[in-house]
Amino acid sequence: MGEHFDKALIFTDLHIVPEGETIIGLDPLARFSEGLAHALSRHPDAQHIILLGDLTHNGAPEEYARLAPALADCPIPISVTTGNHDLRDNLTAVFPDALDPDGFVQTALDLGPLRLLILDTFDYDGAAPMEHDGYLCATRLAWLDDELARAAKDGKDVVVFCHHPPCPTGFWAMDAIGLANADALLTRLHAAPHVRHLVCGHIHRTIHASAGGLPVSILKSPCHQIPMILGQGTFQDSIDEPGAYGILLALKDTVVLHTEDFALSSGDVQRY
Ligand SMILES: [Fe+2]
Repeated sequence: MGEHFDKALIFTDLHIVPEGETIIGLDPLARFSEGLAHALSRHPDAQHIILLGDLTHNGAPEEYARLAPALADCPIPISVTTGNHDLRDNLTAVFPDALDPDGFVQTALDLGPLRLLILDTFDYDGAAPMEHDGYLCATRLAWLDDELARAAKDGKDVVVFCHHPPCPTGFWAMDAIGLANADALLTRLHAAPHVRHLVCGHIHRTIHASAGGLPVSILKSPCHQIPMILGQGTFQDSIDEPGAYGILLALKDTVVLHTEDFALSSGDVQRY
């Protein structure tokens, strides 16, 4: 076992709000900034930072505009994707480099022996009220097929990132707005023996699962979490528990994902 770790930091569900607003009394931008400073001080050797969707709470231009300065001095390259609280056009107006040639916010990048495939599971058609479930259209699935083939050709193991978990979690309100066509994803990943792990957000709680025979890790938000009340509740039920971020290590033949809490708990179950 060598001393060098190929390492990436993962933040999901930032939920940045407009200036002066809070979520259950928490300031999402302050919480994310605290988490990012915590991560950078302890892991300055990280090669990538991934923001795994729900960058904002409402998808508003001013929310993305508030996030951008918080990232401006970050010395580590940042990749972003969408969540159900984002709006793709507003996100890419502030982060234009995030837009891929197909018009989605997804990318492939290398971390040591790994190829990280970051999928865009956003499913908003622009005509209806904001919908919160995820979906991978034919264009995005074709991109995934191409990237899985390219990774195999390059001799890379793959870790897949997507905001919406492709499996139920026991939180019914969240499971109702999961990845709507999870089977399309899992069928492809199951058929690709070089895929090692999935990393997701969306739920706002640390969860370990398996789906389609693959391990799934779901990470907490740096801000508000879902209370540990299985079954009942709404997707807006939130609790002030410590915020967290993920630390992905690409070791030889092994993928390790740590979670690190960086803020102390207080308060009861609340609803935003
Ligand atoms: Fe979220």
